[in-house]
Amino acid sequence: MASIHLVNVSKRFGQAPASLPGEQHQLRRHASDDAPPEGSVLALDRVNLDVRDGESMVILGPSGCGKSTLLRVVAGLESYDGDVFYDDRDMRDVPPKDRGIGIVFQNYALYPQFEGKGNLAFFFRMHKREAEIDERVRQTAQIMGLGFDALLGRMPSTLSGGQKQRLAIARAICRNPKLLLFDEPLSNLDAQLRSSTRIEIRRLINRFGITTLYVTHDQTEATIMGDRLAIMDRGRVLQVGAYRDVYARPANAFVAGFLGSPPMNLFEGLVEGGRVLALQTRLTPPTHVLDFTVRGQRIIVGIRPEDVVIEVDSASADGEGDNRLCTAFELVERLPADRAQLLHATVNGTRLIARAPLDRHIPLHEPLNVFLPPEHLHFFNAQTGMRI
Ligand SMILES: Nc1ncnc2c1ncn2[C@@H]1O[C@H](COP(=O)(O)OP(=O)(O)OP(=O)(O)O)[C@@H](O)[C@H]1O
Ligand SMILES: [Mg+2]
Repeated sequence: MASIHLVNVSKRFGQAPASLPGEQHQLRRHASDDAPPEGSVLALDRVNLDVRDGESMVILGPSGCGKSTLLRVVAGLESYDGDVFYDDRDMRDVPPKDRGIGIVFQNYALYPQFEGKGNLAFFFRMHKREAEIDERVRQTAQIMGLGFDALLGRMPSTLSGGQKQRLAIARAICRNPKLLLFDEPLSNLDAQLRSSTRIEIRRLINRFGITTLYVTHDQTEATIMGDRLAIMDRGRVLQVGAYRDVYARPANAFVAGFLGSPPMNLFEGLVEGGRVLALQTRLTPPTHVLDFTVRGQRIIVGIRPEDVVIEVDSASADGEGDNRLCTAFELVERLPADRAQLLHATVNGTRLIARAPLDRHIPLHEPLNVFLPPEHLHFFNAQTGMRI
């Protein structure tokens, strides 16, 4: 077992890819150096992260935010600035093969020249521990369950995606790792296999209590795999916590607009006379928001779709009163599995999504009162994005 500690870890790739998407230009603005080399990409920007012994930590974030780089740094596959510790041990000079880690990559990275068993055995051969192979493979097959034995004699090229995946997972656990690293291991599987495999992986993690870092951009996977999650954007870790805590109190507007499906509604607000003017209404903010803002300041206001209250029964829709507006919903998205419906409106050019029970009748294209309960409003600084 091991805990992991990243202290001020940065990683800059010297050469940017030939076609540099716009968002990566922005990356450079967060460079830790004053004059970053031209064309370089700061993939990790002063990352601090602690993963507790036996904990499963999910790294969640959009494409290109640095998730794989973070995992590769922890595995010892990339050079980096800053420090990486397993427990109290500085890992800078410890090669990957001596770190006691099992890694599962998105593309499986099986050894194509060996059959299934050879893939599991390779590590033991490399460490001159041949004597253990049969027993370890037997134990692993038992853990992996029904049908796994049949994969041991087959070459990787003859296996389906799901079978390759099982073999890759088996290879990672076979060596009794003290740390498991997963990089989007399920993204090549179809939806059904993905949902059954993630449960299987979570069972494995629970059973052995192995410290795990699990990279994904899928939120469902994140809720299942992570005791806690770390949310990344542009090389930085923005927030760490249990899903429900991060969901309830996003530390900044990026996390608010990322977590949830759909995520939080975010819109512009203006502080004015003890109120926040937004969405053509007056919102009543908690006093600390007024304490930390000045009159005339632009801020970002957020509310989760499930917190938006549609008042169908009001006698006449006039949007009168604080925290209340009048709008017509123009589109409904039904989610039978959730027994819910998502209602879409556009208020003053801003999209607003409300979630309601599936069996509730909500007329479309008709002005309705919508109430935004003040206790469910979130406020963020428009410049820094930070929660107020
Ligand atoms: N070997 C490399 N050389 C140059 N730039 C790289 C290299 N590897 C990654 N990068 C850049 O570093 C940034 C982070 O990449 P990384 O692969 O860690 O992202 P990611 O979060 O894993 O994305 P995805 O979800 O698409 O896998 C990106 O801008 C990427 O282009
Ligand atoms: Mg990646």
